[in-house]
Formats: sequence, C-alpha cells, structure tokens
Amino acid sequence: MLMAITRFSYFILVLLCLSLLHLVTSFPSANGQIDYNYNYNYYDRSCPSLGMIVKYGVWAAFKNDTRIAASLLRLHFHDCFVNGCDASILLDDTIDFRGEKNALPNRNSARGYEVIESIKADVEKACPSTVSCVDILALAARESVLLSGGPYYPLSLGGLDGLTASEKAANEQLPSPFEPLENITAKFTSKGLDIKDVVVLSGAHTIGFAQCFAFKRRLFDFKGTGKPDPTLDSSAVANLQGMCPNKDASNSKLAPLDSVSTYRFDNAYYVNLVNRTALLESDQALMGDSKTAAMVTAYSSNSYLFSADFASSMVKMSNIGILTGSNGQIRKQCGSVN
Ligand code: HEM
Ligand SMILES: *[C@@H]1O[C@H](CO)[C@@H](O)[C@H](O)[C@H]1NC(C)=O
Ligand SMILES: *[C@@H]1O[C@H](CO)[C@@H](O)[C@H](O)[C@H]1NC(C)=O
Ligand SMILES: *[C@@H]1O[C@H](CO)[C@@H](O)[C@H](O)[C@H]1NC(C)=O
Repeated sequence: MLMAITRFSYFILVLLCLSLLHLVTSFPSANGQIDYNYNYNYYDRSCPSLGMIVKYGVWAAFKNDTRIAASLLRLHFHDCFVNGCDASILLDDTIDFRGEKNALPNRNSARGYEVIESIKADVEKACPSTVSCVDILALAARESVLLSGGPYYPLSLGGLDGLTASEKAANEQLPSPFEPLENITAKFTSKGLDIKDVVVLSGAHTIGFAQCFAFKRRLFDFKGTGKPDPTLDSSAVANLQGMCPNKDASNSKLAPLDSVSTYRFDNAYYVNLVNRTALLESDQALMGDSKTAAMVTAYSSNSYLFSADFASSMVKMSNIGILTGSNGQIRKQCGSVN
C-alpha cells in the first residue's frame, strides 16, 4: 500500500517536473529568458473576439476563393523563413528598404495580402493596437489548414511585428523548387528545423497551385537530356504538357500541386510522391533519398501520423525568430511600420 502511494507521488512529481520543463522550453524569448507573456492565451483578455474575427475573415475569403487557404498558409511560411516570423513579408517597399513582396519567390506568386489587411482592420476596430500582424498571419494560416480539413495546433501568441524587410534576404533564404534536397534541408536547419520538418511541411503542397514555370523544365528538355524528367510518371508528363505547352506564354498558367484532392488537406501529397506524380522537382526529390523516402511512405499510408506531425512542425515553424520587447511593435496596418 505504502509502496503504491510512494510510486504514485513519484509519478506526480515526474509529471510536475515535465510540465515545468515544458513551460520553460515552450516560451523562450529572443534574449533566451522566459517570457511568460508569450503564450497560448495571450489575447484572451485584451482581445477576446480575435479568434472569431480571424475565423470569419478567412471563412469569407475561402467562400469566395477556395485557393486562398493555400495562399495564406504559404504566406505564413514565407514570412517565417525570412528573418523569422515578423510579418516582414507584408511590408510594402519604402525609401529605406526594398521589401519581400517583390523578391523572386513572392513576386506574381504570393497572394492573400488583402485578406490579412482586411482581418487586421476588423481586429483594429475591436481591439486597437493590441494584436500583431505576425499573430494574425499565423492564426489565419491555422484557420486555413482547418478549413481545408487539416489539423488544429496550439499557437504561442504575443510575438511582435518587425520594423523592416529585405528583398535580398527573401531571395536568399526561401527555398527554390530547382535546388537539390541538400540545399533545401540546409535552409531548414539554418532555421532550427530538421529533415523531418522538410518532409512534413512539404506536405502543405497537398493544397494549392503552382505556375507552369515552376515545373515546366521537367516536361520537355530536362537538364539538357531532350527528354522529360525520368522521375515523373509518363501519363502525368502527357497531362502536364497539355496544361503547359512549351511556350513562355504558358508560364503563369496554374496546375494543382495535388491533382488527386486539390483543395483537401490530406495525405494524398505523399501518395502522389510514391506514385511519381509530384508536381515540383523538389517534391519528387523526397523520394530520391532513402531517409526521406521512408518518411514519405509512412505518411502515404497513415494520414493520422501526417496530421500529428504536421501540427508539431507548424508549431516549430511558427516560433522561428519571434520578436519581443523593443525589437518589434504592433503595427496599425500590416503593410507599413507605424
Ligand atoms: C520545401 C521547400 C519548398 C519549396 C521549394 C516550395 C516551392 C513552392 C512553389 C514553387 C510553389 C508554387 C508557386 C507559384 O507557382 O506561384 C509553392 C506553392 C505553395 N507552397 Fe511551397 N515550397 C516549399 C515548402 C513549403 C512549405 C514549408 C509550405 C507551408 C508550410 C508551403 C506551402 C505552399 C502552398 C500552400 C502553396 C500553394 C500556394 C497557392 O496556391 O497560392 N510550401 N511552393
Ligand atoms: C474573390 O476572389 C478573387 C480571386 O479569385 C479576388 O480577385 C476578389 O477580390 C475576391 N473578392 C472578394 C470580395 O474578396
Ligand atoms: C546548392 O548549394 C551549394 C552550396 O551552397 C551551391 O553552391 C549551389 O549553387 C546550390 N545549388 C542550387 C541549385 O541552388
Ligand atoms: C497510385 O498509383 C496506383 C497505381 O498506378 C493507382 O492504382 C492509384 O490509383 C494511384 N493512387 C492515386 C491516389 O492516384
């Protein structure tokens, strides 16, 4: 009996220690100290209607344009990968800097800015100068994943908006579909993410579209061979050649990243990879390495595993380089600093 009680209290002690550890490791601030203001319930008192406003804003945009879910998710990724999650991607060019909107990976490609600006305007009406654009973007991305049938994940809120943006940094730090897996992985590890996050977060390509220029070289003369990319299924080649005739005029035409369930956030992306029908070279390349291929195969047959892992990788991504204190501010409009 005594033995049982001792064991039980030992169990409780371990549990307490673990949760304390969790608290300590969950909310690191920029200077390495614990910032207890940076947490899941950050706006519960200061802006209780925030959740509903974001939910409504994303839902209304999604009703008009289903693709917006994909676009908002990508916008959040492109924010976090360039000098951290600081809403820098939302800033327009100024006389002091050339921003990220015109960087190669974003120009004529990133979309959803107006949706974020309109949600921000509604949030400002309800709770002026209280909620950062970083948090609105992260919440809108999460809402987009949910609306598309993907998982919910807890976001730590309270990060601030950055004061500047950099076109050069965006060109250097965002991954390109034409670079090899090693290079893409290096970009992820430089952000504190790992190879598993590369595989898991690439699963975001289960929704949304790419323009022909992003994959067209696979269809005709792949790397000077005069033939299509051998890692692309031949009927997919034929189908995509029809969508993207080998003329520059087709460069901005759209093809679904996941042709099986284009608007559904599921694990079909991985099934496609196994089936050699991924759209981007960088997607199909995940099958060209034994370690990543094993993960792809696992996700292709287990959608619950993918959902759970996607949720935790998104939490990691949403925490990259969060600004606190005097390094940031709460913008009044997302397109410009105050
Ligand atoms: C791993 C390296 C990645 C590369 C090389 C890459 C590349 C691309 C490219 C080339 C496009 C098409 C853009 C266009 O044609 O306009 C695209 C679209 C997209 N990407 Fe990625 N991406 C990567 C990772 C990610 C991650 C981590 C996420 C989110 C977590 C993401 C989410 C999306 C979404 C949702 C779209 C569709 C956007 C829309 O339809 O508006 N991507 N990506
Ligand atoms: C609806 O979506 C289209 C893009 O498909 C966009 O151009 C238009 O501005 C949207 N309208 C509203 C009211 O949001
Ligand atoms: C990959 O990274 C290496 C080393 O940084 C670089 O030299 C090479 O140009 C990169 N390849 C591509 C296709 O970007
Ligand atoms: C994957 O490929 C197999 C064999 O080609 C096919 O039967 C199956 O329908 C494909 N799955 C999807 C989801 O396209």
